[in-house]
Amino acid sequence: MGGLEEEKHARYIVSVEKKKDDFEALVIEHLRMNGAYWGLTTLDLLNKIGAIDADGVVSWVMECQDKDCGGFAGNSGHDPHLLYTLSAVQVLALLDRFDVLDIEKVSDYVAGLQNEDGSFSGDMWGEIDTRFSYCAICCLSLLGRLSKINVEKAVNYIVSCKNLDGGFGSIPGGESHAGQIFCCVGALAITGSLHYVDRDLLGWWLCERQCKDGGLSGRPEKLADVCYSWWVLSSLVMIDRVHWIDKEKLTRFILNCQDNDNGGISDRPDNAVDVFHTFFGVAGLSLMEYPGLKSIDPAYALPVDVVNRIFFRK
Ligand code: FPP
Ligand code: ZN
Repeated sequence: MGGLEEEKHARYIVSVEKKKDDFEALVIEHLRMNGAYWGLTTLDLLNKIGAIDADGVVSWVMECQDKDCGGFAGNSGHDPHLLYTLSAVQVLALLDRFDVLDIEKVSDYVAGLQNEDGSFSGDMWGEIDTRFSYCAICCLSLLGRLSKINVEKAVNYIVSCKNLDGGFGSIPGGESHAGQIFCCVGALAITGSLHYVDRDLLGWWLCERQCKDGGLSGRPEKLADVCYSWWVLSSLVMIDRVHWIDKEKLTRFILNCQDNDNGGISDRPDNAVDVFHTFFGVAGLSLMEYPGLKSIDPAYALPVDVVNRIFFRK
């Protein structure tokens, strides 16, 4: 079996970023901001971010900002949401363009979504989920504005979503799910609160997600899927238990999901590729220190050099 098709994946990402009228573009129209984050982070991990028109991306991102509330939408003319606001901030971090941001306005929008119990709503309609706790905490930390929220209450809410199996759910009592575990462990890592995690218990639950084919799944009895190479693996790295899975078998599973002709990575072998799974496949390989890739930060989900540039800028 061959190695990672770096060139083909970069060409695939650039081609999707350009296309606006094919089926995939249509499906992701409403979450184009997430797509931009997945695509650009992948290119950067492959050391190929120079392949895109950075100024064009920045002006499109700024078109997606709601002029009144300051939050970002999935595409221009759509409604703002925390999910897209984090992606917008991550894209601007990647491109080193926080200079275009009104940091107080964006951080006030995010802080305004915190509820009395410490949880976060995703937008003005109020749905509550630990995904939104992560989005808010990651976003505010990148902007240097965590002081605008009640961090203690935010942490206590996340801890109230911890289950007896060591995992975390979307709300108190919600079933443990690897995506939700990434969000909760990531938010706890960013706020220096990892002592609330039972590392051995959670590490055991997470490493049990490795299937016979080497891939990782999101919950017991589910099939392996490349995106869980990120949700599960990043959590294991954050709690220092990544040596509990077989890295070689997982690497082989991800490489088997590549489209060796046209680039891109799919959820499982022989399925159609998409930008989402291409990002999570490359990000998973990066966490396993695959040669030639930049390393990715498991909590901020951005290349380590980008995170360092933000926090250690003189
Ligand atoms: C599973 O999704 C994933 C989650 C529940 C976590 C989503 C996390 C975010 C949106 C936060 C931002 C993420 C990053 C990387 C910065 P799914 O709906 O595919 O689950 P399923 O496999 O159970 O269908
Ligand atoms: Zn998936």
